[in-house]
Amino acid sequence: MSKILILPGDGIGKEIVAQAIKVIDSLNANHNMSMNLVHGLIGGSAYDATGSPLPEETLIAAKECDSILLGAVGGHQWESLERELRPERGLLGIRAELDLFSNLRPAILYPQLANASTLKNEVVSGLDLMIVRELVGGIYFGQPRGFEIKDGERFGFNSANYFESEIARIGHSAFQIAQKRDKRVCSIDKANVLEVCELWREVMEEVSKDYPDVELSHMYVDNAAMQLVRAPKQFDVILTDNLFGDILSDEAAMLTGSLGLLPSASLGAKDKNGKMRSMYEPVHGSAPDIAGKGLANPIATILSFAMALKYSLNLDKEADALEKAVQSILDEGLRTKDILSKGMKEVSTSEMGDAIISKLQ
Ligand code: IPM
Ligand code: MG
Repeated sequence: MSKILILPGDGIGKEIVAQAIKVIDSLNANHNMSMNLVHGLIGGSAYDATGSPLPEETLIAAKECDSILLGAVGGHQWESLERELRPERGLLGIRAELDLFSNLRPAILYPQLANASTLKNEVVSGLDLMIVRELVGGIYFGQPRGFEIKDGERFGFNSANYFESEIARIGHSAFQIAQKRDKRVCSIDKANVLEVCELWREVMEEVSKDYPDVELSHMYVDNAAMQLVRAPKQFDVILTDNLFGDILSDEAAMLTGSLGLLPSASLGAKDKNGKMRSMYEPVHGSAPDIAGKGLANPIATILSFAMALKYSLNLDKEADALEKAVQSILDEGLRTKDILSKGMKEVSTSEMGDAIISKLQ
């Protein structure tokens, strides 16, 4: 029996995770599986209930379970809190505490949705790329950081830094993923300006020696941002640090038509028993403006759970079935508002969830 921690978080988190829970219930009932769900708090709702965006109980549960499914965190009402108490700290905290350094963000354009993209059909049709983002280091976590008064004015500072071991391990992740795809890694940096990126590039060259079957190229991040909208199909695996990955993954998401479609997996290292910590979450945020209205697209969350089936629970067949179920409701023309186009049928968050489940039975 696998134990999965469910962390809906804030905003649309609850609605979209509710759809994934329905999927899990349906798999349990109809596919003879036994996934046991445990529920926890994270983000702003955790702060409201406990005074912390990452309560101790959540962290303990996270360490005990086989995997985690998270919705999204954040909301305007918590923006004026002290930084350490803000919802985002909960998310960054759980990533760091579990050392989930390898964040996989696949961007696939479903042919049925080619018209939902703001880019021309021929630019994006058939798009299938994977962003591998370092998730627990770099400028997000670097010390020193802070606010000070310096020379009589306010001064804010952060540090972009990586140890070579941190760079190497995310490099290995990316190369191993590329081996199962088109065997091409494009490593993104700003080595023309930043020392930390010079090291990044050097280490990626070293790591690539272990993977002679994979082609490594390098690209400056400004060029990568441009190439992603100019000719995104040139990429197979995009390998980035934490900050560049955050930015480029939103850009890649939009190529597919909506942020509401992109799943992600955050993986740790395997321990000596082969067990790996993991958390799955949609790439999008908590969208407080549409929360509670039944407008949110649950597909990214459901596909995130499909990634959990594949990467953490060893249930490839069920993962495929779930991905196919998503495809077939798209074929039938069902759309949430974010991906609605002419002639398609608009459905709510829970109707979308129900439609996907109906294809699983
Ligand atoms: C993401 C999000 C987070 C990040 C925020 C919510 C802290 O944008 O997962 O991409 O910056 O990593
Ligand atoms: Mg982001």
